[in-house]
Amino acid sequence: MLILGIETSCDETAVGVVEDGRLLRSNVIASQAALHAVHGGVVPELASRQHIRDMQPTLNRALSDAEVTLEDVDAVAVTHGPGLAGALISGVNTAKALAMTLNVPLLGVNHLEGHIYAAWLAAASDAAPADEPGFPLACLVASGGHTDLILMEGHGDYRLVGRTRDDAAGEAFDKAARVLGLGFPGGPEIQKAAESLATFDEDDENHSPREEQAAAALPRAWMRDTLDFSFSGVKTALLHRAQDVGLYPPPEMADPDADRLVARLAHQFQESLVDVMTAKLLAMAERYHARGLILGGGVTANARLRQRVLADSPLPAVIPPPVLCTDNGAMIAAGAFYQYQRGDVADMTLDVDPSLPFGQPA
Ligand code: KG4
Ligand code: ZN
Repeated sequence: MLILGIETSCDETAVGVVEDGRLLRSNVIASQAALHAVHGGVVPELASRQHIRDMQPTLNRALSDAEVTLEDVDAVAVTHGPGLAGALISGVNTAKALAMTLNVPLLGVNHLEGHIYAAWLAAASDAAPADEPGFPLACLVASGGHTDLILMEGHGDYRLVGRTRDDAAGEAFDKAARVLGLGFPGGPEIQKAAESLATFDEDDENHSPREEQAAAALPRAWMRDTLDFSFSGVKTALLHRAQDVGLYPPPEMADPDADRLVARLAHQFQESLVDVMTAKLLAMAERYHARGLILGGGVTANARLRQRVLADSPLPAVIPPPVLCTDNGAMIAAGAFYQYQRGDVADMTLDVDPSLPFGQPA
């Protein structure tokens, strides 16, 4: 069964073609990152309009990369929430038009469920075993809008056992990058700055007091009695630290030590978030006797997080390649395949739901 998956919930116009829920036939992503970067964050109005411009060429490329035509498509799937209303609408309307003209089933997929199903695509790749991961699975979905711990007890069976009480992890990365004068989106920039620390450390004998200050650990919000997260504290701590070492507000005079101090702060910030996300995911897996882990969402593209989870987990972990962690259409097509098996098919009344919930509360 060939499913076309469309994703436009935020700032990526993305279309993927997936066969039987697991075989990736194509995955085309038109990123709007450059468009929004000058504004330091996603501007919803600009996003909506750019989706309209990018949809047609992205769709055409996804079909040609998969070496299929529209007539070969057996169902059309689309993210209908959560996300930006105006952005979601272009995907949903495109999907409805296609399903109607092709006379094939229409599937409305939850964006967060899509992030989890990227793991099934990864499992279909050469790197992973051909078997499906065994249930129950402990899933961490960390993106620009969510940081959720989801217990998946079967296809379509999700329990929300932990979530952020304030900022999402991706949002925290994006804000931290802004404080440090790095680009947008912030996650990859923080990662790059943190990785650059290794190049500085070589000739690093005598630390100045300022550098000592920058190199000290930032706080972790463990909140020991819960699987919930909180990232606003470390974000504020980073801001104060940046002020203390003279990085914020950005100095008017060129500062020869700036890159090095930014690298130290980026490293400490990343360590704080990675520590907490890794520990809570593993604690959840133990508490609910999970048989495996799944990582999904843009933040799980983070190299340090991936490395820590693989190093610390006693359980097998499926971590999709970074391009399938950030928003894409293939993950929507993968999730839709299992949804179709359950008979959970939409009709022409399908609407966007910007705050579509996901998972039963624990
Ligand atoms: O899932 P996603 O592509 O879109 C949403 O559903 O929000 O996630 C985007 C988020 C952004 O906040 C971005 O900074 C973050 O994922 N991100 C990363 C990395 N790559 C993307 N965060 C940390 N490290 C990365 N390498
Ligand atoms: Zn996402």
